[in-house]
Amino acid sequence: MTSKLAGRSLNSVTDLSDEEIVQILDTAEAMAQDPTGHADMLQGYVVCTAFFEPSTRTRLSFESAAHRLGAGVIGFADAATTSGAKGETLEDTVKVLCGYADLLVMRHPETGAAHRAAAVADIPVVNAGDGAGEHPTQTLLDLYTMRKLLGGLDGKTVAVIGDLRYGRTVHSLVPALRRLGTTVLAVPAPGLDLPGGDARVVTLDEAAAEADVLYVTRVQRERFTDPSAFEAARGKLRVDRALLERNDSTAIVMHPLPRVDEIAEDVDSLPSAKYFEQAWNGVPVRMAVLAHLVGAL
Ligand code: NCD
Repeated sequence: MTSKLAGRSLNSVTDLSDEEIVQILDTAEAMAQDPTGHADMLQGYVVCTAFFEPSTRTRLSFESAAHRLGAGVIGFADAATTSGAKGETLEDTVKVLCGYADLLVMRHPETGAAHRAAAVADIPVVNAGDGAGEHPTQTLLDLYTMRKLLGGLDGKTVAVIGDLRYGRTVHSLVPALRRLGTTVLAVPAPGLDLPGGDARVVTLDEAAAEADVLYVTRVQRERFTDPSAFEAARGKLRVDRALLERNDSTAIVMHPLPRVDEIAEDVDSLPSAKYFEQAWNGVPVRMAVLAHLVGAL
């Protein structure tokens, strides 16, 4: 049976039903159990990674995932090398790429760019981050990591910490967590509140004492138009070993990475530090996303 996700684009977590989220996580689990056992699945297909904004984990884990499934990979990691630099519109670039690939993974500094791309594309477009908008595949790997480490999501408490205003990983994660029965606590950096504002705001100490997961994020420097607002927000929230110890925290610590200074390095050697494992989970989760959207399942 062909996956119901075949041929669809993934712009937002709201594009997926709860069942489809679980289906992708289950497929990712199977991929993780046998990472080299699916090398024929996308043989003959081509995946394009079009990155108009910096990335390490997202682009390379998508490319690793595509290679592990046997697909060819084309793309760019520096928009200055593309015809956008000559004045080509995003829509024209996307239309051309559709003739070169079977699926397009795109990151772009403008909120809504992936939606615009999907509107003109005749292949699935995966939003790998659109400005301060969303980052749905990061959410899938975050959910996968939490489900695996906590044994489920229903009834758990997740504290989102840091730049809740501009952090696109948070914008995708929070609605997904709520749909899956998880309570969300918010610890915003100064002036960087969660849009919508309906999560309970707590201190970092309260979060460390109460939560099952501390989901820490970087202040998104590149989104600020006012440098003084960035200066006022940076460096104010820091998860360190002392915080976890004085609150007898049982939480796992996650971060989409890259980290700047919001998690102290003295946390790295604690068993509760899960951010590198979280990043590695990007490969099986993105293998699952590619396999479903291309229609190989
Ligand atoms: C995040 C992003 O690009 O939104 N990184 C990632 O994809 N793992 C988080 C960030 O850059 O702070």
